[in-house]
Amino acid sequence: MASINRNYLKLQGSYLFSKIGRKIREYEAAHPDKKVIRLGIGDVTQPLVPAVIEALHSAVDEMAHKETFRGYAPDLGYSFLRETIAEKDFKARGCDIDADEIFVSDGAKSDCGNIQEIFGTDNTIAVCDPVYPVYVDSNVMAGRTGEYDPALDCFKNVIYMPCTGENAFTPALPSETPDLIYLCFPNNPTGAVMSRDKLQKWVDYANEHGSVILYDAAYEAFITEEGIPHSIYECEGAKTCAIEFRSFSKTAGFTGLRLGFTVVPADLKVDGVALRDLWARRHGTKFNGAPYIVQRAGEAVYSDEGRKQVKEQIAWYLGNAKIILNGLKTAGIEACGGVNAPYIWLKTPKEMTSWEFFDHLLEHANVAGTPGSGFGPHGEHYFRLTAFGEREATKEAVRRIGLL
Ligand code: MLT
Repeated sequence: MASINRNYLKLQGSYLFSKIGRKIREYEAAHPDKKVIRLGIGDVTQPLVPAVIEALHSAVDEMAHKETFRGYAPDLGYSFLRETIAEKDFKARGCDIDADEIFVSDGAKSDCGNIQEIFGTDNTIAVCDPVYPVYVDSNVMAGRTGEYDPALDCFKNVIYMPCTGENAFTPALPSETPDLIYLCFPNNPTGAVMSRDKLQKWVDYANEHGSVILYDAAYEAFITEEGIPHSIYECEGAKTCAIEFRSFSKTAGFTGLRLGFTVVPADLKVDGVALRDLWARRHGTKFNGAPYIVQRAGEAVYSDEGRKQVKEQIAWYLGNAKIILNGLKTAGIEACGGVNAPYIWLKTPKEMTSWEFFDHLLEHANVAGTPGSGFGPHGEHYFRLTAFGEREATKEAVRRIGLL
């Protein structure tokens, strides 16, 4: 007789962004005359840049001819892409990462969710609070988190590291030692960044305690300030304690194309076993490689033209962020982020809970954002807006929020 993975029953009813999407659809169905401005999920709105489109067209043409047609992609990624990434994302920044330490995938969300499979189910995890829900949910599914405590809105075996205004939304080193430490900088949802010196302390801590840092750098392309690391491998010793996730989704607008990669350095070992070999084994068994045409599109992001175009697009999104930040400040709402990240993190007015503010904004301004409490208990009384909207819609949303 079949049985289910009962760990799934410990999860919240639905994934945060699915719940928000449902609420917006219900509101629009009940108010057909209203059009909600969506600044909730961080999904891009601008078309792919010309260099990427050109690469896609040319790769599609290759697929039309017997001589250049491609079947299954190598499961770890084509060498043309892995080598380009190693060269331009890492060696150019002084990080000694080789192509064979890079694993191409269909996006950082899958990799962040799947990486826990190569670790023992008895490992303890530490996460920032608030946190991107995938890290916790994927560990819940694997039975690594213990029971959910509704009173505290926490899982019993998870170390939550509070990120608040007092610590500039960057966590302090934990007092209990976790086996796995999830860090995401620039941060989703708060938009905060961690300086190289501070990140170095985490790397030293992990090496000293035998912990592994799972570093999500999906938003590194949005960094505009000096002294903020784009990769954890800018820190000394990171190759023996850290795995890094990267994404083309926000960097180059690939949320619909799907492409990302994970770096597992050869020197990273647990119990004498190279994690790179375990991740390669997992990839080979469960993944048949990202599509050839998409990998060619990814390669085009690194061409001179591609880099320039993508940089302009990011600057454009950061222009939206500035409009939101300035507008909120003018409206007397406390807000941060949006300078090195596409997310603005604001304090809900009048002590409203995050979900109360969500409903209030939806109803009275027809604007949708993301309730901070959906990211963890310390997200309560906060709210996230994304800079990925259309320019006019963003301006209009800010205008309406100012009228509330
Ligand atoms: C977000 O809005 O947090 C992101 O778009 C979610 C994701 O990247 O999966």
